[in-house]
Amino acid sequence: MKRLLVAGLGLIGARHARAILDHPGAELACVVEPDAALRAAFDVPGFAALDEVDLPVDGAVLATPSNLHADHAEIALARGWPCLVEKPIEVDLAGADRIVAASAQAGLPVLTGHHRRYHASVRRLREIVRGGAIGAPVLANMIWAVRKQDAYFEGNWRAGAAGSPVMINMVHDIDLLRFVLGEVVQVTAMGAAHVRDAGRVESGVIALRFDNGAVGSIAFSDAAPSPWGFESGTRENPNIPGSGQDCLWIAGTRGSVSFPSLTVWSGAEDWRQAPVARPETVAQTDALTEQLSHFIDVLDGAQPLIDAADARRTLATTLEVEQQTRAAEVTKWAS
Ligand SMILES: NC(=O)c1ccc[n+]([C@@H]2O[C@H](COP(=O)([O-])OP(=O)(O)OC[C@H]3O[C@@H](n4cnc5c(N)ncnc54)[C@H](O)[C@@H]3O)[C@@H](O)[C@H]2O)c1
Repeated sequence: MKRLLVAGLGLIGARHARAILDHPGAELACVVEPDAALRAAFDVPGFAALDEVDLPVDGAVLATPSNLHADHAEIALARGWPCLVEKPIEVDLAGADRIVAASAQAGLPVLTGHHRRYHASVRRLREIVRGGAIGAPVLANMIWAVRKQDAYFEGNWRAGAAGSPVMINMVHDIDLLRFVLGEVVQVTAMGAAHVRDAGRVESGVIALRFDNGAVGSIAFSDAAPSPWGFESGTRENPNIPGSGQDCLWIAGTRGSVSFPSLTVWSGAEDWRQAPVARPETVAQTDALTEQLSHFIDVLDGAQPLIDAADARRTLATTLEVEQQTRAAEVTKWAS
């Protein structure tokens, strides 16, 4: 049994803590959270700050606001605790570099919370694309369109520019495309903000070029309700009703595949022939639990599926998108 600590008991931290309580290989050693009411929801020792923890811990799950990840990872690693750090790894590259350095200095692993990589359907998609079932990948098209409730942005850190869906949500989609297709070598993005007009990007399009020559796009909005998006397509999030609709389409030189249905289209040599569809089914997995199981393996010496340096690459592309979409905002609001 690994004794784990969870720091930050907000939206995702509370889910981590419950996943630990339910996991046969882990024990919730304590929680760290300045809000006493949130701490009280868990019947384990609670602390207001990480450096107050005075009991033995095998690993730390850091689900604190993203701009505190480097501070908290440095404290945890110095205490000898390998970390599972929520995504994004930090809010800027300097912060990510601090985590990479602290991990190296302590000689302890950091796993980053890009939990989508643990879905069985995502793993299978990667095998299909990288295993040659659709030939060489040529293009990818992804959509993520939801309408977030106004309360999501009211009276908290998401109220200003930090509430843009780029750092909160697109970081997941970008990491998913990196995991499936390869490294991003070029990125161009355009933002829009004309629905809420709340001083931050709310919609946009992202164009990506990958190191294998494939190109891809992501269209996103947090102001437009739709059945298209990773969470609703995969039904992964208890707070977001599922649609089961596809949200990602990848075409290659010999066929194509849509996700999450994992429908593989093949058999057409050129556009005069009809491709044949072959749907696949994979057992649905709970990605947060799978990620936790992997973190427990990491504590026993396994290599992290996504370490801090890898997550830094996802962050670098996401920051580039953030910067380019903000530039578009400034143009709009200045006019
Ligand atoms: N993997 C995912 O799907 C997913 C989903 C949501 C959030 N996240 C990430 O998780 C992190 C937290 O996001 P959230 O939406 O849960 O935020 P949140 O605001 O709901 O929760 C953050 C919590 O951290 C607490 N906190 C603040 N300072 C602290 C400190 N010094 N020590 C301990 N706790 C402290 C806050 O009181 C709050 O309860 C962010 O990095 C976010 O990007 C990941």
